[in-house]
Amino acid sequence: MNSHALAWTPSCVAQTHRHPKPPSKSATLQSPATISATATTLRTKKTHTMPQEKIEIFKSLENWASHSILPLLKPVEKSWQPQDMLPDSSLPSDEFIDQVRALQDRTAQLPDDYLVVLVGAMITEEALPTYQTWFNQLDGVEDETGVSTSSWAKWSRSWTAEENRHGDLLRTYLYLSGRVDMQMIEKTIHYLIAAGMDLRTENNPYMGFAYTSFQERATCTSHGKMARMAKESGDPVLARILGTIAADEKRHETAYMRIVEKLLEVDPSGAIIAIKDMMRNKFTMPAHMMKDGRDPHLYDHLGAVSQRLKVYSTTDYADIVDFLIGRWRLDKLEGLTSEGRSAQEFVCGLAHLIRRLDERADEQARKMELQRVKFSWIFDREVLLAKK
Ligand SMILES: [Fe+2]
Ligand SMILES: [Fe+2]
Repeated sequence: MNSHALAWTPSCVAQTHRHPKPPSKSATLQSPATISATATTLRTKKTHTMPQEKIEIFKSLENWASHSILPLLKPVEKSWQPQDMLPDSSLPSDEFIDQVRALQDRTAQLPDDYLVVLVGAMITEEALPTYQTWFNQLDGVEDETGVSTSSWAKWSRSWTAEENRHGDLLRTYLYLSGRVDMQMIEKTIHYLIAAGMDLRTENNPYMGFAYTSFQERATCTSHGKMARMAKESGDPVLARILGTIAADEKRHETAYMRIVEKLLEVDPSGAIIAIKDMMRNKFTMPAHMMKDGRDPHLYDHLGAVSQRLKVYSTTDYADIVDFLIGRWRLDKLEGLTSEGRSAQEFVCGLAHLIRRLDERADEQARKMELQRVKFSWIFDREVLLAKK
């Protein structure tokens, strides 16, 4: 999961699911720095917006999912585990300590701003209980018993198991590095899981799978960039770790994109309207409720550092929207209802608007030229927010 806030915010937030307002093309663009978790908590919630009869669509796709989605999971025996890339504590203690020392030598050169975004990514991965809870709130694909044999439930449990290794690996690596304040990081994770998240997906799996397509690609992008930066900073092992995690995210992205592709095939208007609703709401990042008990703007500050390092920026956001439009051939959809057509028009014009947001974010970053912020995760050392 990716941590950073790059958002598309609707002009109308107080809707009910019974009488939704028509889509507005005059939605407001906000920069990462202006979006706060506080605003999120004030929104009126829309729940269970997928019509009951559409639950049948997901039931009818179970067989398809077992052939087209479940094979994208890796069998446990063929899966990597965090221990493959960590010092081996079962070795004689001097050998183990040598491996830890080598790890600390490698991580000694990682810049502070890089550490901040890496910790942000790790904390986001560590909030996995929240994501599994979210998945099980999606109507028609939830794991009703905890051991359900439906394809959707099998996917969600195994996806969780795959994701679970990401936080474990990054957390242990960072712990052994000695470069970060583990207690402040653990506090942040504690706060984050306790706070939950509000993705505004309305218990609607159409919206949910559009969201996860976006999110997995965003995470793959940011982990991939952090892998390259780790290599440049002299830590090839961390580069391998991040590259390995990014490869998992890529498989997950493929699965979720395929599901949306299928929904566009069986219910094109329903699917494009859900994609529009998702994009109009904005793609709220999963860790948007993040706090450490010290910096009231922690999440925005993290987003600003990420934007400056280009680990994940508004350009990436626009690129992903463009990519999904192309991959799902949204501009070529035919046979849509009139509501479907207006959703299509909205979605296909979105990337251009987001690129304008990128220019604004860069401009804002330039204005913040001398702003430095302390991050508790790195023992209150200061990190520059603005562009170099
Ligand atoms: Fe992950
Ligand atoms: Fe993933």
